[in-house]
Amino acid sequence: MTGRVPIRLDVNGRPRSIEVAAHHTLLDVLREDLGLTGTKECCLVGECGSCTVLIDGRSVDSCLVLGVEADGAAVTTVEGLAADGALSAVQQAFLDTGAAQCGFCIPGQVLSAHALLATSPHPSREEVEEGLAGNLCRCAGYEQIIEAVLLAADAGKKARPAAPRSPAPGTDVASRPDAEVAPQ
Ligand code: FES
Ligand code: FES
Repeated sequence: MTGRVPIRLDVNGRPRSIEVAAHHTLLDVLREDLGLTGTKECCLVGECGSCTVLIDGRSVDSCLVLGVEADGAAVTTVEGLAADGALSAVQQAFLDTGAAQCGFCIPGQVLSAHALLATSPHPSREEVEEGLAGNLCRCAGYEQIIEAVLLAADAGKKARPAAPRSPAPGTDVASRPDAEVAPQ
């Protein structure tokens, strides 16, 4: 199928009305149509978690969801976590523990951590391991990643997905690329 289909998304708090290729995944839509390349592309079969985003608060492999299936959803990508310039508690904890090595898996790890802490603010180590089990790290930095999630939880910094933001009155943000307002 080659036709394009109109969909509406809330992406990182910004309403977007776009036409997408019917066969494109949400990962394609985010990276190619919206320029949000913080969401990483790797296995494309739901095995690695590099493409993890939040859909209505739940962590999802965006390579397994068609863009048209996400019509009407609220999507949070890594760009949405620090759109106002301040790192989320989870991002800060990853920084503090040196959890990022090559960094490729980190956006997905961080979003899975956000989803976990939103429902379980004080998880055990086992719960963290289970919550991030779908996110592979080829640098094998698991110890620091788990430490980061526990640090964010222990600090009492309740990590949540970025709350949807309303554009300022008269500001046509929907017509601007996300990259202009949310550096990656
Ligand atoms: S690229 Fe989606 S799970 Fe690997
Ligand atoms: S930090 Fe390199 S793949 Fe995880």
